[in-house]
Amino acid sequence: MNQEDLFKKLIAHSKEYGYIFPSSEIYDGLGAVYDYGQNGVELKNNIKKYWWDSMILLNENVVGIDSAIFMHPTIWKASGHVDAFNDPLIDNKDSKKRYRADVLIEEELAKIEGKIDKEIEKARVRFGESFDEKIFRETNPRVLENQQKWNDLHSHFANALNNADLAGLKQIIEDNEIVCPVSGTRNWTEVRQFNLMFSTEMGSTADSSLKIYLRPETAQGIFVNYLNVQKTGRMKIPFGIAQIGKAFRNEIVARQFIFRMREFEQMEMQFFVRPGTELKWFEQWKETRIKWHKALGFGESNYRFHEHEKLAHYANAAVDIEFRFPFGFKEVEGIHSRTDFDLSQHQKFSGKKIQYFDPELNESYVPFVVETSIGVDRMFLQIMSASYFEEEIESSDGKKDTRVVLRLPAPLAPVKLCVMPLIKKEGLPEKAREIIDELKFEFNCQYDEKDSIGKRYRRQDAIGTPFCVTVDHQTMEDNTVTIRYRDSMAQERVAIDQVKSIIGNQVSLRRLFEKLKS
Ligand code: GAP
Repeated sequence: MNQEDLFKKLIAHSKEYGYIFPSSEIYDGLGAVYDYGQNGVELKNNIKKYWWDSMILLNENVVGIDSAIFMHPTIWKASGHVDAFNDPLIDNKDSKKRYRADVLIEEELAKIEGKIDKEIEKARVRFGESFDEKIFRETNPRVLENQQKWNDLHSHFANALNNADLAGLKQIIEDNEIVCPVSGTRNWTEVRQFNLMFSTEMGSTADSSLKIYLRPETAQGIFVNYLNVQKTGRMKIPFGIAQIGKAFRNEIVARQFIFRMREFEQMEMQFFVRPGTELKWFEQWKETRIKWHKALGFGESNYRFHEHEKLAHYANAAVDIEFRFPFGFKEVEGIHSRTDFDLSQHQKFSGKKIQYFDPELNESYVPFVVETSIGVDRMFLQIMSASYFEEEIESSDGKKDTRVVLRLPAPLAPVKLCVMPLIKKEGLPEKAREIIDELKFEFNCQYDEKDSIGKRYRRQDAIGTPFCVTVDHQTMEDNTVTIRYRDSMAQERVAIDQVKSIIGNQVSLRRLFEKLKS
């Protein structure tokens, strides 16, 4: 199955099995806004717990907060968002469609990369074992030509971005003959800046009302609480403040399902450090964060770091962690060394001293900050796309069958086990209920007695339940059940009182945390 079809199937599956619904669906939806269903909310909560506990429990010097979405509007002036939180947009005059100029160029870069990858894959098949990718890249004329094209385009693009050169971006689009995907024409408008913040009014009368913004990042809620947390928590530098919460951006190009949304959720951590040490901490958090991703077991080669072409107005180093989605490598998390920009700006705009007295140096300074920032929804999409499989299997009557299975990491799966009586009589349902009554305090359990066992297994595979426990006649005699494992489909007979520990070991977040140590 090609990646585009896979992605379409994933979107349909997410809806069919209660993971993600389009927002306001009965009113035909609302662009780039989604609701999480009964299974989606559980997976999302588990992702947040994995992140939160890895920050708060595993680091003595990181604490959490939960700041309000509404904040004083001057915060956004100080942070630079009012003046500089813009995307360069361009319209196609024929289709009337609006695009991000930078995204159009990035897609052109990805197309060239795709051509190179295709050549390499073809050669890999042709040469087999003896294939040496490095030599091939250095010598194949078609690869060299495309690489040169990529380098030229990339360097013009980085220049235009770094100099906020809107005419330069338009020129690149023209020079590379980039066409509108809808009309197929090159009839473009000029490139303009577009501020991404949503605003609203606070207050009841026209005179007293205040224009406020829906936060486009959660980070500023941390910066403006830096002093509160440092003082009340008697925190010593280096220390971090973590937060999970909603953020809002009026994205111009809202595509690819929950990858780019207008209302989304972030998990951000600001780590406050002594000036001059920030690049060391930047490297350290880079390593910590990539390990956190890789611990989920989706394969090392599906991750890569991407250095920024253009540093944000507040950063002196920045890198993205990218994951290989069905539509290519894309950012999931950003790690920024934000210097002392934000705290200094808030010091200036609020008139309050925001400093730290460092007893070792016997001096006060504005701390520098290293930020880790990840989107919950992008993480969700990463997990769903890495977990969705369609497998050919043989059913009990020997026929070929397809099973759709979500191989979710067990600690993140919404439902941990489903208990099923083999038949609906002879005391089996009551026994199954007894097992659930014992386990429901530990795990999210389901009960299912409808249809054949095979069909019930398929339903649980489709939502990613790692364990099914079947109660049969033997259970009534010797208090044993069968556990069926989602991934291997293997079955095992175990005593009922072993079930809690077998499942408990597999679904504990501790299993993931252990992998972060090395
Ligand atoms: N405080 C820094 C910051 O907000 P960012 O790179 O703009 O940096 C951080 O955003 C993360 O938030 C991204 O890596 C992505 O996972 C997520 N994110 C950003 N915009 C998003 C959107 N429109 N929809 C979903 N997730 C988004």
